Amino acid sequence: MEIVIEGNAFINGDLVKCAIGVEEGRIKAVKKILKGDRHYDFGDKLILPGGIDAHVHFRDPGMTHKEDFGSGTVSAAFGGVTCALDMPNTIPPTTSKEALQEKARIAGSKAFVDFGLFAGVSMNSDFEELSKHATAFKIYLATTTGRLLIRDYNVLDEIFQRLGATNKTVCVHCEDEDLINKTMNPDSLKSHLKSRPNPCEASSIKKVIRSSRGAKVHICHVSTSKGVKLVKTEGVTSEVAPHHLFLNSNVKLGALGKVNPPLREPKDQEALWEALNSNIIDIIASDHAPHTLEEKELFEEAPAGIPGVETMLPLMLSLVKHNKFQLGRLVNAVSEKPNEIFHLNKGKLSPGYDADMIAVDLRKEGEIKGKNLHSKCGWTPYEGFNGVFPRFTFVRGEVVIEDWELTGERGFGSMVGESLGSGAVKVD
Ligand code: DOR
Ligand code: ZN
Ligand code: ZN
Repeated sequence: MEIVIEGNAFINGDLVKCAIGVEEGRIKAVKKILKGDRHYDFGDKLILPGGIDAHVHFRDPGMTHKEDFGSGTVSAAFGGVTCALDMPNTIPPTTSKEALQEKARIAGSKAFVDFGLFAGVSMNSDFEELSKHATAFKIYLATTTGRLLIRDYNVLDEIFQRLGATNKTVCVHCEDEDLINKTMNPDSLKSHLKSRPNPCEASSIKKVIRSSRGAKVHICHVSTSKGVKLVKTEGVTSEVAPHHLFLNSNVKLGALGKVNPPLREPKDQEALWEALNSNIIDIIASDHAPHTLEEKELFEEAPAGIPGVETMLPLMLSLVKHNKFQLGRLVNAVSEKPNEIFHLNKGKLSPGYDADMIAVDLRKEGEIKGKNLHSKCGWTPYEGFNGVFPRFTFVRGEVVIEDWELTGERGFGSMVGESLGSGAVKVD
């Protein structure tokens, strides 16, 4: 084997002491003993599939003062995320073949981990063409950062029908624009929540599910107990964001906690944990949405969004360490299930899959500090929370993080692609 990685690895739902052999970036064999040209022995430490973050905003191109594909993927690597799917609300938005190709070129030249791109949906896009260049589609049903709003629910039937023909997953930001109180100018987390109340989400999810026959619909960042009930619908998948799990509208974060959908009340938070534990919500995705501290100064004017790609797995691994969350469910929610939903050939320690993995020492827990993180935004809402950061991060067998230090190379990250296998999408 070119590379062998040994440890207490998560294989088919169980931790097993074994050796993982890697050739040409893919897992070739999982055996008791293997010989390799390069050998990493992690003893009794955990080896888990790398995290797949199905919802990030790396801001590149157009808002690179907040983040770019370099800083965003470095942040991802430190947090054990080996593949991140980037949202279309950049400048320009990725609503055309040209914009997708340009973003693929930029990302390919800067990324430290693998990535996929969302195509933004607008009424007159050529979905068939876009589907050749994007991992999945994204629909915005409410105003938020960017201008990708679909205002008219009457066109949804037709849009979903056309999107269904592409066979790609369609992710939807569900808040009903008509139920947002536009006369308010919120100056606190409580009033922000009031202006975008819980029924916004439920109403929007209902309309989407009603229209979506034929398309593979994925509901982004479910945040309410009603939302949880609705996403139980057969054939619909869903995600929850760490900030809706770990924070609520009572936190003293001011504008730093301003996000869409808003932080909710503790009872919604509880419903989300329950839904995640019981597989009603399929995956955890960070909705990493960095804005600078300067932009976040004044609540009324602050853009909505919270960073999270680097802290998502460490926060969850800390819960695993303290037996508050099941390891198997975590691996399923951040690796196996995102792979199934987005067809990435990643997220599993089995022959044939990309050799993306992390080595974790659960004994090494520390306090999360914004100044130690790697997003350009320079802050985190989880200051002082416990986190277990991976000791090693491997992407396609190559070391990107070694003993909590960056050793990866800018531009090593590749775009994922269904037909050609990850790391091999052809951008013409
Ligand atoms: O709070 C949010 N921020 N919600 C979104 O839907 C977009 C995101 C961003 O891009 O900043
Ligand atoms: Zn969203
Ligand atoms: Zn988002």
